[in-house]
Amino acid sequence: MNKLTDTFKLNNGIDIPCIGYGTFQTPDGKSVEDGVKEALKIGYRHIDTAYFYQNEKGVGKAIRESGIKREDIFVTSKLWNSDRGYESAKAAFEKTMDNLGLEYLDLFLIHWPAIKKQFDNAEEINAETWKAFEEIYETGRVKAIGLSNFLPHHIDELMKTAKIKPMVNQIEFHPGFAQIETAKYCLENDIVVEAWSPLGRKEVLENETLVELAKKYNKSTAQICIRWVLQHDILPLPKSVTPSRILENSQVFDFEISEDDMKTIDNIPCCGGQCANPDDVNF
Ligand code: A2P
Repeated sequence: MNKLTDTFKLNNGIDIPCIGYGTFQTPDGKSVEDGVKEALKIGYRHIDTAYFYQNEKGVGKAIRESGIKREDIFVTSKLWNSDRGYESAKAAFEKTMDNLGLEYLDLFLIHWPAIKKQFDNAEEINAETWKAFEEIYETGRVKAIGLSNFLPHHIDELMKTAKIKPMVNQIEFHPGFAQIETAKYCLENDIVVEAWSPLGRKEVLENETLVELAKKYNKSTAQICIRWVLQHDILPLPKSVTPSRILENSQVFDFEISEDDMKTIDNIPCCGGQCANPDDVNF
């Protein structure tokens, strides 16, 4: 990857720009609109939102007003947990499309798997949700479908009834929480991995090992995190509402982290982010 618009290829042939602009926790209205517009101005062509973020309206508005052709921007949204199931997932997709005000979506993800801790029939719920996703995909209104926060066993279970293989799995992935096993499983199965919270929600940025490496490479710790994700063949989704940081997070193509330093970062003990175990969440 050499620039923001370089792409990973999904298993259905669709290209996805190699860094996405994240919008979790960015309020709807001016905040998210300004952020998305700034990101697009800098050259990001991939925007990640979700129904749960409650900012799809602002994201859609910024995209529509950007003056950039719709087909040149890759837009992702996600189905929230209360909308799982066949009928509800289909209805939720319509809500998302209404919010965004776009003709089509590039990628629609199941935000979190239904889990056994909460549902006796978790497998069935995920299968029904996926069936709705497949049917929406077949209409052409979404160019790709995928998962988020699915562990390998959730994917194996889904594949028992799936007709279409997921194209993406978006997981928490940052120094201090490198879910290497899940990532490896996805990459081996031709599922593109996306990293949410690649900066580990800021705390990671003060980690001493990263601070040292940042000095060595003459980069910021945020840039080290993002570059490390990319060198794992994973697609980072850094999020910032600060123009200088939106720019900084895109300037990661003029250096390379050595193999030894990659291993050092892989082994940073658990820190930052949410460190969420998808089998043990209570939402
Ligand atoms: P802000 O939006 O105020 O710029 P993550 O993507 O891992 O969840 O982290 C997001 C957090 O990291 C936000 O609080 C964001 O702050 C902050 N952040 C994003 N980019 C940078 C950066 N380059 N340097 C420092 N903090 C950053």
